[in-house]
Amino acid sequence: MLVTSLPWRMESQHERSADRYRAGVLKYAQMGYWDPDYEPKETDVLALFRITPQEGVDPQEAAAAVAGESSTATWTVVWTDRLTAADVYRAKAYKVEPVPNSTEQYFAYIAYDIDLFEPGSIANLTASIIGNVFGFKPLKALRLEDMRFPVAYVKTFDGPPTGIVVERERLDKFGRPLLGATTKPKLGLSGRNYGRVVYEALKGGLDFTKDDENINSQPFMHWRDRFGFVMEAVNRASAASGEVKGHYLNVTGATMEDVYERAEFAKELGSVVVMIDLVIGYTAIQSISKWARRNDMLLHLHRAGASTYTRQKNHGISFRVIAKWMRLAGVDHIHAGTVVGKLEGDPNTIRGFYNILREPYNPSDLESGLHFDQDWAGMRKVMPVASGGIHAGQMHQLLTYLGDDVVLQFGGGTIGHPMGIQAGAIANRVALEAMVLARNEGRDIWNEGPDILAAAARTCQPLKAALDTWGEVTFDYTSTDTPDFVPTPTPA
Ligand code: 3PG
Ligand code: MG
Repeated sequence: MLVTSLPWRMESQHERSADRYRAGVLKYAQMGYWDPDYEPKETDVLALFRITPQEGVDPQEAAAAVAGESSTATWTVVWTDRLTAADVYRAKAYKVEPVPNSTEQYFAYIAYDIDLFEPGSIANLTASIIGNVFGFKPLKALRLEDMRFPVAYVKTFDGPPTGIVVERERLDKFGRPLLGATTKPKLGLSGRNYGRVVYEALKGGLDFTKDDENINSQPFMHWRDRFGFVMEAVNRASAASGEVKGHYLNVTGATMEDVYERAEFAKELGSVVVMIDLVIGYTAIQSISKWARRNDMLLHLHRAGASTYTRQKNHGISFRVIAKWMRLAGVDHIHAGTVVGKLEGDPNTIRGFYNILREPYNPSDLESGLHFDQDWAGMRKVMPVASGGIHAGQMHQLLTYLGDDVVLQFGGGTIGHPMGIQAGAIANRVALEAMVLARNEGRDIWNEGPDILAAAARTCQPLKAALDTWGEVTFDYTSTDTPDFVPTPTPA
């Protein structure tokens, strides 16, 4: 018979059983998608799902269903499985355990053979892992918590076009976080006024300014106007300060042709960096990443849209998985949380995100939500970006939580400064340099931070005004996306 004559094909115990391929409906576990004895291979892709089965649905069967629907199965037996190496291609749910402190949620561990995925394609990977399975009726909710990619698969991706080490060399900036600001208001400025904001912020001491995620090409400012005025501002500020400066020109557009056209123009004007929004999609991100690599351009990614599916713990995708996908897909910067500030950010969870982006190897660490060891196999590192409601008065907290390899971005916290934009930038630069110096001198910046800032403000009027304006501003709310193994409150 054709099927058994194939040399690479082995029959499993499921296939040997006479009933396995009789037409009709079988439980997913009976079809072979639950295999508690399975030992994941080094080359397997692993996924951890948080499953909430419907009432009466057995957790192991629910896990098997997730394995099935995210790999080879459908709702009924199909004899055509026997034309394939079904036993290899079938994903295996190999462990199910209750989620701590929950009565209805379970962690399901699933292993996938590497051959199920096209090399180097996030679109193909995600079409399986987060495909139809998320709408499957026997599950009340489903969340992709974490993934482990084998080195053999990691090596099929190019990763970041530039990476942290080369970015610092190109910018000639070392030993401190980079400073940025998002231009405000988000929408409505004309090109000329936009350029003025950029110049003031860069001249005041920032390394980068940035388009907002929703600035593309609107009636009040077409993209070419923005690019022209912005690059004039960048060049003037660089000349005035003697420092390399950049502005993330958002090249997001309606079509890939628009994206390339905008990126090419940014290059012609001499920009060191272009920006995209996550909403352009995985294929577009990988395409522009390859362009950035060919053109020695930094690629900044704003995670616009991510919180719609990353924030709630019962359903969606953890941002730690998005961070892994984006390191593979190849971006140089990604917004990854601030801890303090206006956006969601449990400290342990954010530490996990930053480790994914910046470390050569991630050992599993349940406290920060990392469930697997992940070897990045020499892949370049992504610079995390902390942005959203941060100000100079938090500098000691930002430096302690986030370290040096990060862009600290103060949008309102630069442009809203009472003495003007340049003063806002000076306040941030002085606060940062004072804090880095204190840390390097061995001082306890966590506890002495406010005193260090107050001392610096005595000889820096802009910093004094920033502290007077925002020093007391906090966003003290409970985090929703917290690790399951350590309950931690969000500090303001
Ligand atoms: C961003 O795109 O990161 C935000 O718009 C930052 O703005 P903020 O610093 O004023 O919160
Ligand atoms: Mg924004």
